[in-house]
Amino acid sequence: MSPFLLTRTLPVDATDAALRADVLHGLTRRPKTLPPKWFYDAHGSDLFEEITRLPEYYPTRAEREILIDRAEEIARASGALTLVELGSGSSEKTRHLLDALPALHSYVPVDVSESALRGAAEALLAQRPGLSVHALIADFTGSLQLPDTPGPRLVAFLGGTIGNLLPEERSTFLRSVRSLLSPGDALLLGTDLVKEEKVLVDAYDDAAGVTAEFDKNVLSVVNRELGADFDPADFDHVARWDPEQEWVEMRLRAREPLTVKIPALDLVVSFGAGEELRTEVSAKFRKEGVKAELAASGLRMDHWWTDSAGRFALSLSTAA
Ligand code: SAH
Ligand code: TRP
Repeated sequence: MSPFLLTRTLPVDATDAALRADVLHGLTRRPKTLPPKWFYDAHGSDLFEEITRLPEYYPTRAEREILIDRAEEIARASGALTLVELGSGSSEKTRHLLDALPALHSYVPVDVSESALRGAAEALLAQRPGLSVHALIADFTGSLQLPDTPGPRLVAFLGGTIGNLLPEERSTFLRSVRSLLSPGDALLLGTDLVKEEKVLVDAYDDAAGVTAEFDKNVLSVVNRELGADFDPADFDHVARWDPEQEWVEMRLRAREPLTVKIPALDLVVSFGAGEELRTEVSAKFRKEGVKAELAASGLRMDHWWTDSAGRFALSLSTAA
């Protein structure tokens, strides 16, 4: 019996069809946009891991601090036998939860990045050979079909990734998470908090240029998958704080007027000088806002923990 199962709920060609639809829709509207999940091919997942180690990128360290401090409390409150993790990536911080859950039966990491899932499972099984790891290649914004593993379930969504969804997408997402929870199950949610503008902007525009490379990786994905001829060097990475929306917005700005051919879509897209393509938002939160969004989706926030500097929060919620 293999303790590692990898299930692909995204058919191989669905990725391709979804990418085509997103690129066609996003590049023919104004302002131009591309959805963030396409950042994470194998190279993008590696670049994100590099981001988590940058001096400017505080969220990973802040969230790890909370996990280390509160893992026992989270474990006691949830009593989980199955840990489901959405957008699990390298599952690096998840170890702290796993260590506090010695009786855990199954770990179900869910991610669009197959390379990240494989790497994470390999590293985890080396540490916890008895754990059953059932990885799902799936889009967490779609309807999720979870494997039949013992409850209670703890569903973790870490990294502040919820901030990468737009407000309407967030409420749809939270409602679908709510529908996955049975009585006794819980949601552990990581949210980055509103803070000084410079700290926020620097976290998304580091001095070494790793975030810029990550942002531009989405162009390489479109080149490789759809035969486009984007030259990433034609674009500058821009990170801007929007005080109304309370999110950091990432954009790629064309340096010169240019055209890009996308043969798979039979499309030619032109950019004016300085025209920007929005690639990602990263919303920042306040406690009352998180509580209200959870409540609107049928979830009750039972715990709220922050790191010692008050930069990042983890909340634990149950079905209301
Ligand atoms: N949880 C990790 C990784 C966060 S980065 C951490 O806290 O460090 C966001 C992760 O979500 C990436 O691994 C990316 O591949 C995944 N992801 C992004 N959009 C997704 C989607 N729509 N469905 C599933 N996974 C997604
Ligand atoms: N979930 C991460 C965040 O919002 C993703 C991320 C970090 C990201 N740096 C980025 C996405 C740069 C796009 C560009 O913090």
